[in-house]
Amino acid sequence: MVKMFVHHNPVELHFGPKSFEKIGTLAGRYGKKALLVTGKQSMRKSGILDELERILGEAGIDSVIFDKVEPNPSYSTVEAGADTAISKKCDMVIGCGGGSAMDAAKAIAIASLNNKEISSFFEGETPSKAMPIIEITTTAGTGSEVDRYFVLTNPETKEKNATGFKCSYPAAAIVDPMLMKTMPPRLTAATGIDAFFHGLESYVSRLSTPISELYAKEAMRLIINNLYEAFRNGKNMEAREKMALASTLAGLAIDISRTTLLHALEHPVSGHLNAVHGEGLAALSLAYMEFTLPLCPEKFANVASLFGEDIDGLPEQEAAMKSIDGMKKFLRKFGMDIGLRELGVNEDMIDVFVEEAGKSPISKTNPRPASPADMREIYLKSL
Ligand SMILES: [Fe+2]
Repeated sequence: MVKMFVHHNPVELHFGPKSFEKIGTLAGRYGKKALLVTGKQSMRKSGILDELERILGEAGIDSVIFDKVEPNPSYSTVEAGADTAISKKCDMVIGCGGGSAMDAAKAIAIASLNNKEISSFFEGETPSKAMPIIEITTTAGTGSEVDRYFVLTNPETKEKNATGFKCSYPAAAIVDPMLMKTMPPRLTAATGIDAFFHGLESYVSRLSTPISELYAKEAMRLIINNLYEAFRNGKNMEAREKMALASTLAGLAIDISRTTLLHALEHPVSGHLNAVHGEGLAALSLAYMEFTLPLCPEKFANVASLFGEDIDGLPEQEAAMKSIDGMKKFLRKFGMDIGLRELGVNEDMIDVFVEEAGKSPISKTNPRPASPADMREIYLKSL
């Protein structure tokens, strides 16, 4: 029986090499002045920001640069960006970079029109409107360019939370693999691993649909077959293109089905320790899979098959366990077979982490519900 589902994604996606060049035409639909939201250095260093300003200028669009987005961006960064957008009378927000820049762009687009602090939208308020958002991704990881969600950190408590609304969907997204070829190997691996777990978690999520499962499985397949080549030889455009497609598909899948307990458990790690999100996921992944797979063994058996594990003739639970073997071998290829201690976590932090993870709505989408004791166990096993 096919379960009932709704499918809706309004993002106009422009995918492929040189799609970046369309930014002038796309932005021209929304006005004459754009706030460009980006990180502190790499977009300027790589020349992408200069190129963006040039293309927009040729289309008659003025650029206001907001290049203060830190990794794991905070509420205060978003407020500062919104102040700039308001004082400079921007018509639209263009996020350019990885997940941090793109998520900050969504939040700035909301904060600049709703006359409320951005924190209120993590505490139950729903914004009614946002400035038009265009996202340009320069990593193959978050998929944020095609979904409504954004993740911010509360600078006082270090709590990292995800939320999303109808008005935070980007109007348009540009996924141009040419922009990804300068990504260094470690970033390629960390963002690719993030995309893999977007695939895996949305595949097993309680909210999965036949469409998100298709996207998610194909995303995982592409990542298993191409991430190592993109990591080893970043100039291999075929591998970069396949990874770009994979992260976009995984982003579409999480827009439908969200992520699950693994992301809920990881957010305190990167929120408190400023750890790299993909590395936090890698560290927690094996214990998360072991905990979750008894309740959806057929899906984890499929993941084992995608890894090329031989599951022929095995009982379903054993076949599912093989997905952990596949995951271990995969992480080892990138030096991502790490523990939480390597990211700065110690036992004393776990009570706070469990409390924060338990409050996260994405801890509720896991096929196997987790009690505080279960979460504690996963953290301890992952040290
Ligand atoms: Fe993620």
